[in-house]
Amino acid sequence: MPPDWNQADSLQPAAERAAAALGRGEVIGLPTETVYGLAGDATNPEAVRRIFALKGRPVDHPVIVHLADAAWLGDWAREVPADAERLARRFWPGPLTLILRRAARVSDALTGGQDTIGLRVPGHPVALAVLREFGRGLAAPSANRFGHVSPTTAAHVHAEFGASLPMILDGGPCTVGIESTIIDLSGGPPRVLRPGWIGAAALAEALEAPQAAGVAAQSPRVSGSLRSHYAPRTRAQLVPEGTLSARVDERAAAGERIAVLALGALPAGSSGIALPSEPEAYARALYSALRSLDALGAERILIEAPPARAEWIAIADRLRRATAAGTPEAPDAAR
Ligand code: TXA
Ligand code: MG
Repeated sequence: MPPDWNQADSLQPAAERAAAALGRGEVIGLPTETVYGLAGDATNPEAVRRIFALKGRPVDHPVIVHLADAAWLGDWAREVPADAERLARRFWPGPLTLILRRAARVSDALTGGQDTIGLRVPGHPVALAVLREFGRGLAAPSANRFGHVSPTTAAHVHAEFGASLPMILDGGPCTVGIESTIIDLSGGPPRVLRPGWIGAAALAEALEAPQAAGVAAQSPRVSGSLRSHYAPRTRAQLVPEGTLSARVDERAAAGERIAVLALGALPAGSSGIALPSEPEAYARALYSALRSLDALGAERILIEAPPARAEWIAIADRLRRATAAGTPEAPDAAR
């Protein structure tokens, strides 16, 4: 059982221990409402280097800096446009990352050499308590090795990094379950770089600019937009809605050991996991399910594609990337 973080008496000592470790330049596992982060002092280049080394992440991939309050934005961004203020007021603390032009003091190690910086005030009480206690920004990419599935429990972080972290704070299972929405406000019209729980319609409404929040063409600088990402180690394949049962039978007839990630209910005779057919509950359970299926040692994971509707866009994005290595491009070869 995770501790009850609503009890100030247990949360505060944990936040103090975490802040002390961070102050020594250490990197810790930190819960957020989206996924767990691998957190270090964003003003300490040694700590930032250690995050990259632990993740095995290429140095030109920027990390998100987490803040306790939107009032800290001025320390990290050289200008805070009105749109950023609007979105911060509406969605922070919460699962939204703003890309802004960086302040002069921000190190290249954080931004991958770009002129912009990703900033977010997370909505998890443990993350906020640690940030307040620490008093400075925390660089925190998702706490997984580069390209692998993001962690949504402390146990997942332990499985990724185990003894190489001095501390993994347990904040229970993440309530959102997929990474924050990323919106670029660094110039030109606002662009969504990574879809998430906060959808384009909600962003457009908050921006009072319905045309503004289109999903941009993929930027190679966003590691989450690489074609293969968020991926289990087992070959995983996306199958169109309504064809799962036939595909399972076909693979089983070919003698393959198949694990299934189904929507709503598992096809008869198959083994695997059925996730809820409601997008928020599905997102919350997705990465945990991918990790469990990966551990089964199957030859292939078949994933039922979600409905082609707006509320499933972020999930469809993660599933496409999780299956990119295992799904042939040509539909008729997709078996
Ligand atoms: O929900 C989240 O955002 C989680 C939690 C821990 O906060 N963090 C997360 O971090 O997903 P990470 O590093 O795994 O993914 C951050 C994404 C990457 O795709 C990175 O390329 C992009 O944000 N990013 C960061 N700074 C950027 C920048 N200046 N311009 C464009 N993309 C940026
Ligand atoms: Mg990540």
